Amino acid sequence: MKFFIDTANLDQIREAQQLGVLDGVTTNPSLMAKEGITGKENILKHYVDICSIVDGDVSAEVVSTDFEGMVKEGEELAALHKQIVVKVPMIKDGVKALKYFSDKGIKTNCTLVFSAGQALLAAKAGATYVSPFIGRLDDISTDGLNLIAEIRMIYDNYGFETQILAASVRHTMHVIDCAKIGSDVMTGPLSAIEGLLKHPLTDIGLEKFLADYKKGNA
Ligand code: G3P
Repeated sequence: MKFFIDTANLDQIREAQQLGVLDGVTTNPSLMAKEGITGKENILKHYVDICSIVDGDVSAEVVSTDFEGMVKEGEELAALHKQIVVKVPMIKDGVKALKYFSDKGIKTNCTLVFSAGQALLAAKAGATYVSPFIGRLDDISTDGLNLIAEIRMIYDNYGFETQILAASVRHTMHVIDCAKIGSDVMTGPLSAIEGLLKHPLTDIGLEKFLADYKKGNA
């Protein structure tokens, strides 16, 4: 399973990259605003800065909601850097835009996916990635992980190449459960990735190894 980090914070992206397990970055307009990145020029520059830190795909979201606007914005984003993936919302014009970009060989990430039907449409339109938001489904007492399992089954039934990118991942158990189900990618905060490191028996064991070494080599 690929690990993407879901942030526009350059320090956190650097930290995940230095860990050596980072495969890409996802951003959205809310994450950009959280970092205080506003204005078209600053936003475009920020995407290029992110691309210079990581080796993998970097999702950059369009803010237009009509087909022509999404195509114009998406082409501009894709021209910024070869790692850019154009992130398009799951709406009617978004589906048309996914097909347009797919035909032109531009990578896409279909965002705001909350049902298996939406994921099927995104795959039919040739999306590179589909982003089901599991945390936001959990927030409304709906099983987000079940959606990942449903999409996995549908894509496997027909050999769709669209990659399932589990998004709105909130914690470490989401990461592990997505891996069990067979999600192709997960995107989450740095804390969810670093949570995989932790086990008290590792800490206790290391402490004892070091203490025993010290005794024998005092
Ligand atoms: O990638 C989508 C993600 O940013 C949404 O996460 O935590 O705002 O639901 P969240």
